[in-house]
Amino acid sequence: MPAELHAVPDTATMDIKQKQEAYHDWEAKTYEEKFSISYDERCIDYARDRFRKVVPDGAVFHRVLEVGAGTGFFLINLALGDCLGDATLEATDISEGMLEVCRRNGAEHGLSIATRQGDAEALPYDDDSFDLVIGHAFIHHLPVPGIAIREMHRVLKPGGTLVIAGEPTELGDKLSWIVKRNTYRAFRAVTALPGLTRYRKPGIVESGGSVEDAVLAGLEHEVDLHTFRPGDVEKMARLAGFTEARVVTEELTANWVGWAVRTIEGAIRPGVLGMRWAFGAFHAYNRLHRFDDEVLARFVPRDIFYNLILHARK
Ligand SMILES: C[S@@+](CC[C@H](N)C(=O)[O-])C[C@H]1O[C@@H](n2cnc3c(N)ncnc32)[C@H](O)[C@@H]1O
Repeated sequence: MPAELHAVPDTATMDIKQKQEAYHDWEAKTYEEKFSISYDERCIDYARDRFRKVVPDGAVFHRVLEVGAGTGFFLINLALGDCLGDATLEATDISEGMLEVCRRNGAEHGLSIATRQGDAEALPYDDDSFDLVIGHAFIHHLPVPGIAIREMHRVLKPGGTLVIAGEPTELGDKLSWIVKRNTYRAFRAVTALPGLTRYRKPGIVESGGSVEDAVLAGLEHEVDLHTFRPGDVEKMARLAGFTEARVVTEELTANWVGWAVRTIEGAIRPGVLGMRWAFGAFHAYNRLHRFDDEVLARFVPRDIFYNLILHARK
């Protein structure tokens, strides 16, 4: 057997949590580049806007935990955006690779983040520990999201607040698939023209990655497990013991543009799109986001928007 194949993980024998850990450990190196994550005005505004939709300015927290924290995108940008005051910051994730990047990102921005590797469905913290528990784009990875919500309720102090943002709705996700599929087909058709195939992104092995990289990258299609109906998420939170639970949704046309942009960015050879593309896409997204919030949200049912934010109190 070639030496390289000894390192290839046998993903066929992994259960879903082992797959989550293996995939996100592998993805940690490139996660922030893939999702254009930064710790500047652009992402601070994004995180603060999500949070302020459900938590009023002036709320005070002493101990804050992010679950499924990844590289710290939500926690760090909220802290930099003055949403968390002087609270101590803690983060947990099933992937130690992600947490390593999270600690490093925190330190680079003058924040100390205590991390513990663990499963959101069995949180490694005592009961009644935190004033605020947050999460972003992670409960759709969990086999039984309701168990994690019950765990987040357990570790919150009485009166504590839960905010989970960036989760896909069932209908919003179906619509976004139409956008992704058609954008990808159009990209492939255009780059099939003579002289344009060089604009296609080379495969992982072709661009110098190992077979192990290719195998782990292949898990991407297995780790997204759920989309949600807003009403079901409210029910889940009440069943978990929360007395107040409210879901707001956002992003419709902004999301379509966002997915079209991300589909092209994922398919094109790195380096072809410059900063003008990035800024153009960002401004288009912002304008449409305002249109979705200020105009469409008045008459379009909440289930059709793509992103949901859960706000609950213990
Ligand atoms: C899409 S990433 C989101 C990361 C970060 N919250 C963000 O918004 O950038 C999903 C995260 O969920 C984590 N995750 C998946 N399953 C988990 C589990 N059972 N318990 C804790 N974290 C989990 C992954 O390791 C990954 O860091």
